[in-house]
Formats: sequence, C-alpha cells, structure tokens
Amino acid sequence: MEFKQNVLCIGAGYVGGPTMSVIADRAPDVKVTIVDINKARIDAWNSEDLPIYEPGLYDVVKRARGRNLFFSTDIDGAIREADIIFVSVNTPTKTFGHGAGMASDLQYWEKTAREILAAANGSKIIVEKSTLPVRTAEAMSTILNSNDKGIHFEILSNPEFLAEGTAIRDLETPDRVLIGSEQTPEGLAACEKVVDLYARWVPREKILTTNLWSAELTKLTSNAFLAQRISSINSISALCEKTGADVSEVAKVMGQDKRIGPHFLKASVGFGGSCFRKDVLNLAYLCEFYGLHEVSAYWKSVVDMNEWQESRFVSRMLENMFNTIAGKRIAVFGFAFKADTGDTRESPAHHVVRDLLDERALPIITDPKAIPEAKRDLADVLDKVQFEADPYAAAKGAHAIAICTEWKQFCDLDWKRIYDGMEKPAFVFDGRNLVDAPALRDMGFRVFQTGR
Ligand code: UDX
Ligand code: ADP
Repeated sequence: MEFKQNVLCIGAGYVGGPTMSVIADRAPDVKVTIVDINKARIDAWNSEDLPIYEPGLYDVVKRARGRNLFFSTDIDGAIREADIIFVSVNTPTKTFGHGAGMASDLQYWEKTAREILAAANGSKIIVEKSTLPVRTAEAMSTILNSNDKGIHFEILSNPEFLAEGTAIRDLETPDRVLIGSEQTPEGLAACEKVVDLYARWVPREKILTTNLWSAELTKLTSNAFLAQRISSINSISALCEKTGADVSEVAKVMGQDKRIGPHFLKASVGFGGSCFRKDVLNLAYLCEFYGLHEVSAYWKSVVDMNEWQESRFVSRMLENMFNTIAGKRIAVFGFAFKADTGDTRESPAHHVVRDLLDERALPIITDPKAIPEAKRDLADVLDKVQFEADPYAAAKGAHAIAICTEWKQFCDLDWKRIYDGMEKPAFVFDGRNLVDAPALRDMGFRVFQTGR
C-alpha cells in the first residue's frame, strides 16, 4: 500500500511505544515505524507479550501492527524512509561529571542526532519527544544542520504529557497537545505538518503551538508543579499525623476550591516515575546555571521533601514496631511506582526496601506486574529479599505489611485470611491510604495510614 506519509519514532519505550501506536491507529494512511537499538524490546513489541504493561495498549497495537505500524531494528533504513522523525530515547539524570545527580544525560540524544545525520539522504522534520532541558533543540539543530549534504533539519518540540497506567486514554483524549517550533516560515510549516497529524483525532483548539523554548520549558514546569503539589500535601501529612487531623479530609475540602482543584493531592509514601524527580532536578539545575540560586533551592526542596517522606515511612514502622525490625518478615505490597504499570523507575517502594534492608529486615515483595523489574532493581541484594506473586504467600508469617503501590487488587484481598497467617501483633503500614482501616482494625490489625 502507498502511504501518504512516513513517520518514524526512535526509541520504543514507555513514551514512544504507546504514542506511536495511537498515531498509527488514528492515521491508517500514515506509515508509522518504531525502531530501537534493543532487539529484545523490538521482538517483544512484535509478539503477543508487549514489553510494557499499559491498560488498553495491546488492543491498539493489534489493530495497527502489520497494517501501518511496524517495529524494527533497522534504524538507518527507517531514517532514510522517514519524513518526520520523533525521538524518544531515554534522557536519565546524569550520574557523572558536571551536573551529576541533577542535569539530564544527553548522550543518547546526541548519539541519535548523529545517527540521523549519518543516515539521512534528504530533509527531515525532527521532533523531540523525550523530556529535555530547555534549549536542547537549539543544540540539536546545530549538530544536524552542520552537514555538507545540503539537507535541512527542522527541529520541533512535542512534549508528551501521558501518565503511565492511563497512557492510551491520555493519548486518545488529551487535555492538550503542545508543539513548539522556531518562528520562521520553515519552522511554522513543519509545525503545521505535525499539527495535521494530531488533528486526525484531537480537536484543533486543543493543539497548542508555541516557540521551541516555551514548549521545552512547559514540559519541565508542568511536571514540577504536579510534583510540588504532592510534596506539599505530603508535608502536611506529617503535620496531620502529629496533630490528629486527617490529610484526606484536609485535601478534599481544599480541592473543592476551584482555584486549587482536587487532583494530585493524595498524600502517599512519595512520588515516583521516570519524570518527576528528573524534571524537577533538571529545572533546579537550569536555574542554578542561570544564577537563580533561590529559585533552584525552591524547586530542589520538592525532591528533598519526597525523599524525606519515603524515609519517614520506614522510620514510622520502626517506631511502632518496638524500635526493631531486624530479622522480621515485612511483606511489601507493590513495587511499581504507581498502579496499572510494571514500571519501577524511581519507585518509592525501592527506597522503602533499601531502608528495610538497612534495618536488617527481610522484605518479601509482591506486585501484580512488576516482579521482573523489582528483581532487576534489586539484583545486588537478591540473597536478602524474597518475591512472591501471591500476596497471601507474601504475608504469611510476616510481622507487617507495607503498602507501597495502590493496586486495586490489594483492596479486594481477603484481609481476614491475611491476618490469620501473620505474626501477632499484625501491622499494616498503608503508604497509599488504600485499605479500609476501621474494618482491618476490627479484625485485629494495627493500621497506620499516611497523614492520619
Ligand atoms: C507524570 C505526569 O503526570 C505526566 O503528565 C508526564 O507526562 C509524565 O509524568 P507519571 O509519572 O506516569 O506521569 O504518573 P503520575 O500519575 O503523574 O504519578 C507520578 C507519581 O506521583 C506516582 O508515584 C504516583 O503514585 C504519585 N502521586 C500522584 C501521588 O503520590 N499522589 C497524587 O495525588 C498523585
Ligand atoms: P521513556 O520512558 O522516555 O520512553 P524508555 O527507557 O522506556 O524511556 O525508552 C527509551 C528507549 O530508547 C529504550 O528502549 C532504548 O533502548 C532506546 N534507545 C536509546 N538510545 C537509542 C538509540 N541511539 N537508537 C535507538 N534507540 C535508542
């Protein structure tokens, strides 16, 4: 079949995979190819067992795969064929040198830019899809357009706002789509092509266009504001625990004020995920770079508060379990950074497990989707932790349950059966305010929730 347009995405991860699958589903006359250097990942995308768990994703992939959606490792061939290239390779926080622990590691991005340059045989539109610090597009433009092939690359920024666990819904009915471009005739024309792609299913008024730098900064600040709300409510959760106020009540009433709104006010064991920590630190680093030390410190405190909240969780366990958990079996319910994903990047559960190990406790981890990821994250301490697919088995003989992820499955468990299998007194530390605490207390559990 002759396709109207060839769209390529480099990087078949949590962002690239779902985003391109939805584009292919909604634009059947566009050929969408996704490439990755990781062959195992591409093989999984081509199988029944997709490499990421995301509700609804498989149905979308099944409709489009082989029709106009293709997963491949032939990166050079796909670059040559493409009109528009989305880049969604990983941009983790740097672990070395200048800006270590704060700035983004752009080596994968730059490597990709050079690959595009080497393989391209005609002008292309390049779309940043990864979170990147502000002004990266400019650097990319410089690398790509310093070529003697006489070809031009127009760089756009199209930040992704999908949240894991709801990616398909977020992509199919987004609050907004943002496309940043240079405000030149060429930049605006390229921008219009990407607008047209999304306009297949997104109402035009929800597709916003800005200059490049605004688009890049919007992504960082959107995530920073969301993370800040969680750190704010988590800080109040600590005060609630001291005073006898209930953080859920406080948040509910606050959220009724239209100026505040109800979302992202759930106190928890802490926020995780690949974006929040990285983006807030990136923002702080940018501010530091431009000499805005106070602004940098302000945003950095959002991450500091999160780390404190994560540490506080195990301190509270210790305090209430007679100041010792050494040798005690602690069932960790949930290792994913949130429900409905197998992703464990920056998961608060990881922090909790490390703290439990420091106290020489024995963590038994259960999670409906993330056990393989948990095993990978804890590869250095596999002899000190256990994994159980079945939550009843994880809780058997345990002194306490630490709820770290708000999986609905955990609400539906037979808690009486769990209670009967545990050491007494049986503790539940609910880092997600998930369980029916009064009902569990009636069974005999000692229940500690967050901010209550
Ligand atoms: C986030 C942004 O929401 C999304 O727009 C962006 O594109 C990527 O980063 P994601 O990290 O997938 O998405 O999940 P999100 O739902 O934002 O949750 C992040 C973390 O905050 C999770 O650990 C979640 O459990 C926690 N959280 C969220 C809370 O602790 N309380 C809340 O009220 C909301
Ligand atoms: P995100 O959550 O941003 O999508 P992931 O880590 O899930 O991040 O996905 C990024 C993907 O990009 C990985 O599958 C990785 O193998 C791929 N990748 C990294 N560098 C390159 C590259 N130079 N060419 C192709 N794919 C790459």
